[in-house]
Amino acid sequence: MSKHRVAKIADLPPGERKIVTVNNREIGILNVDGNLYALRNVCPHRQGPLCKGRVRPLVVWEGGEVCHGRFSTDIGHERENEIIKCPWHNWEFDLKTGKSITDDDLRVRTYRVETEGDDVVLYLR
Ligand code: FES
Repeated sequence: MSKHRVAKIADLPPGERKIVTVNNREIGILNVDGNLYALRNVCPHRQGPLCKGRVRPLVVWEGGEVCHGRFSTDIGHERENEIIKCPWHNWEFDLKTGKSITDDDLRVRTYRVETEGDDVVLYLR
């Protein structure tokens, strides 16, 4: 596993993100409410810049199932700021796991990211 210092934590406050290229891989580092996430900046759909998408809650409707555009007064939000939505065609992925919200067989690569002193450190395999 290789270790890469990719940013200063002061340059990545909550709500900010940074796209870095490490070992020819474009990776998005996001600080969401003080939690760091790192994902490949390539959407599995048509290779859109996934990490430039909006961070959202999971939209659910009655029974806790994922909402697929249904109109309902029972629509709600869960898991605030744990979902990223691709800016090209709105496919959604779990920030923690990289898994697609609607397709169990689809996921985007995630990476271990931590702070070490003043630095944000990314680990690659
Ligand atoms: S490229 Fe991301 S949803 Fe189409």
